[in-house]
Formats: sequence, C-alpha cells, structure tokens
Amino acid sequence: MTKKLFIKTYGCQMNVYDSDRMTDVLAPLGYAPTDIADGADMVILNTCHIREKASEKVFSELGRLRQLKERAADQQGRQVTIAVAGCVAQAEGEEIIRRAPWVDIVVGPQTYHRLPELVGKIDPASRNRIIDTDFPEEVKFDFLPGEHAPRGPAAFLSVQEGCDKFCAFCVVPYTRGAEFSRPVKTVLEEAKRLVASGTRELTLLGQNVNAYHGAHDSGKDWTLGRLIRSLAEVDGLERIRYTTSHPLDMDDELIAVHGDVPQLMPYLHLPIQSGSNHVLQEMNRRHTSDVYLAVIDKLRAIRPDIAMSGDFIVGFPGESDADFAETLALVSKVGYASAYSFKYSPRPGTPAATAEIQVPESVKSERLESLQQLLNAQQFAFNKGTEGKIVDILVERAGGRDGQMAGRSPYMQAVNFIGNPDQIGQIVPCRLSEARQNSMTGDIVNLKGAA
Ligand code: SAH
Ligand code: SF4
Ligand code: F3S
Repeated sequence: MTKKLFIKTYGCQMNVYDSDRMTDVLAPLGYAPTDIADGADMVILNTCHIREKASEKVFSELGRLRQLKERAADQQGRQVTIAVAGCVAQAEGEEIIRRAPWVDIVVGPQTYHRLPELVGKIDPASRNRIIDTDFPEEVKFDFLPGEHAPRGPAAFLSVQEGCDKFCAFCVVPYTRGAEFSRPVKTVLEEAKRLVASGTRELTLLGQNVNAYHGAHDSGKDWTLGRLIRSLAEVDGLERIRYTTSHPLDMDDELIAVHGDVPQLMPYLHLPIQSGSNHVLQEMNRRHTSDVYLAVIDKLRAIRPDIAMSGDFIVGFPGESDADFAETLALVSKVGYASAYSFKYSPRPGTPAATAEIQVPESVKSERLESLQQLLNAQQFAFNKGTEGKIVDILVERAGGRDGQMAGRSPYMQAVNFIGNPDQIGQIVPCRLSEARQNSMTGDIVNLKGAA
C-alpha cells in the first residue's frame, strides 16, 4: 500500500536537493510524495540552522505537527512518523527530542541515505526515538538511488558539500561537516539522467561550490571550470548555473568559462558579507574588498552583461558606523542585480557569538533598512535596464495570473508572460516589457515572423 510522505524544506538550495533525494530513498518503501501535511503517514522537516529565526521556526512547526499526530492517532488509529532532518537536526540532536518528544527520528544532512533503515527501527509499542547525526565514513551519494523522479525543467545538482572555511559567524562547517567533492563521473551521470528526464537547466550546488575538486578517472582532480566545460557538452542541457561561491575560490579558469561557455548563464551569486576590510578580517573571510572587486572586474571584462548577486550581514560584532559606510560604498561600486541581506544572528558554537562588542538590535535594524533601500533601488534599476531586451526564457511553470506562464531570464529574473502550459520545458524568446521590483513582465516574440 502506498503511504504518503510530506517534506517541508527550509534554508538553502542544498536542502531542496536533499529533500528530493529523501523522496527517492523512501520510494522503495512505498512512500509517495504529497503536498499537504494533513493525511500524511510521514512528515519530514528538512531544517536550516543558519540564523536563530530559521531554527526557531522548526519548533513552532513541530508544535503544529504534534496536534496532527495526536489527531491521526485518536480519530483514525493511524500512526504518523515525524522526522527532523537537516542542519537543525545536526546541531541540536537529542535536544530536539527533549523539546519535542513526539518526534520519532532525528537525522543529519550526511546520513539521510539511511532513512529506510531508521524508519524500520521505529517501534510504536515502545515509543523509541532514533537519532542519527553521524558524519559517516561512507559518502551518502554512493547510497542514494540512481533512479529518481523527474525534477522539472530547472533542477539542482549537489556537486560539493560542507565547508572548511570557518567564517566566524557561520554554522555550516559544523552542521554539514568537512568539504567534500563528488567524483566527476557520478556528477556527469546524474546530470545526464536529469536531462533525459526533461531537465534543461542545472544549478550546480555546494556551500562552496567553486572550491569543487572532484576526482576524475585520469587521476587528476577536476575544477569547477573543467566540470562546467564538460557539462556543456551534454546534449539537451541548455543552461548551467552554480551557487554559492566564495571570492577566494574564483580562479581564472572559472572566470574564463564565463566568457566562452554559452550555456553558462550570465549571473553570479558571490557573497562578500561586508565592505569593510576590518570586518572581513574579523569574520575570517580571508580576503579584502579589493580582491572581491578585482574578481568582478575580471568577470565583467569578459562577460560585460553579467548580473551580480551577493549576501551581506549587518551588525557583525564590532561593526562601526564607518565600517557599515564601507559596505554601502562597496554596494554602490558593484551595482547588484539582486542581493540578500541579514542582521547578524549569533549562533551557538561559532566564535563570533561570544564576541564582547555585540551591535545593538536597533542599530542592526537601521543598518539593514538603509542597505536594503540601496539594494532594492539597484535591483529595480537593473530590471529597468533590461526593458526592451529580447532574452531567452526557460518556461518553468504556470504564472500567478490567468493565462500567464513563468520562467527565468538568463540573468535570473523571474519573468511572467502570456503563454500556455505546453511551453513548460521550452526555451522561448521573450521581449522584457515592464520592470517590477522582483520580476519582469514579458511578451513572447516570434523571431521567425519578426521583421
Ligand atoms: N557558503 C556561502 C553562504 C552560506 S550561508 C558563502 O560562503 O557565502 C548563506 C548566507 O547566510 C551567508 O552568505 C550570510 O550572508 C548569511 N549568514 C550566515 N550566517 C549568518 C549569521 N550568523 N547571521 C546572519 N546571517 C548569516
Ligand atoms: Fe559559512 Fe563561510 Fe563556509 Fe560560506 S564560506 S558556508 S559563510 S563558513
Ligand atoms: Fe541552512 Fe544548512 Fe543550508 S544551515 S543555509 S540549510 S547548509
């Protein structure tokens, strides 16, 4: 009998990828995915620990799941299995069971391939709880099924995991473990399978994806640039992206690929976090703002239209008004097409959390607001600058309004246009007609018929 599996995903794209793989791994046990928690036989929360707000969300969701589990048991005599996966699971482990004793399974990001085994261990009679937050010897990718459900026109593919950089604010090195690159062969095989199932665009994922150094049969590790060149030869793979990158790992080879691989889209998410060299040093980012700007100069020299994106943290311990002014100045210099910005959130176990000079909440809020004003203005200006351009859109889904379809421009802009569902998976030329803050409207153009 099929059982229903509901997975709720928080955090970054790597979690989105992992959630899909959890679906794959549980399929042989008869679990089929569902979009609603109510009625599900198993609920997995795939969690994020990056900021306090993200990880607290999990506990409020667990409160709701308790009621769902009790209702199913009382009204239908039905057992609902609740699992917490992802980075909160890794960081909090047993603490989750202590705060939410109705949770059955806690499983970390590097052990979810063992889910079938863990599910098998559940014994409703004894109300046992299963915790598996190992960093195992074996690599989970080797135990994930080769066959997988189709992922749609634009799919994620994890090629690298974990991080050895230890930025002073960040939990990722603790929750995901040491840096690891998947061998070239398995990446290419997975890419080909995705393309065969209808995927046209792949986003290569890693916490530090440009540090990729995957083993190749030749005996020599491949870099991300080399991997992208090889993926570009996969028939039917029309678009390639990668995220997230660290400025120090943007080598010249990878930059060159932006100039000469047409499938690599002209968009790059390259976080810097702060424009102040003093703050960058305290953050243990190990580079200056000049290094970052030099990378962007090189990229723009070979790909002038590249859309830049970034991440910023305001209110890192010790950040002064002058430091923050340097962040604004850097943003003005770069001109971002989009960016994410956050108030610094002290995370347990990270060096910065115990720093003496924490920035008051009110100052963080003010700084975030002025930074976001500037970034929003830049994003709108970028969108405005693309009005009238004809670009290729990969059609991904139905849009918000009747008759509308939605997809992404090469620059990662969300584009809505009048179309039809048959176009899903196609790449169609579109004239970008009107800029909004977070999206564009467009009109399909018939190039053959155009004068
Ligand atoms: N590996 C990526 C980022 C991973 S986390 C990189 O090196 O850039 C995604 C973003 O969350 C970070 O870029 C940072 O801007 C933000 N972030 C991470 N830890 C944070 C914290 N403690 N408080 C606020 N924002 C944080
Ligand atoms: Fe976190 Fe820094 Fe690693 Fe990015 S590079 S995941 S911010 S420690
Ligand atoms: Fe969050 Fe873990 Fe990703 S902490 S951002 S889900 S790596």
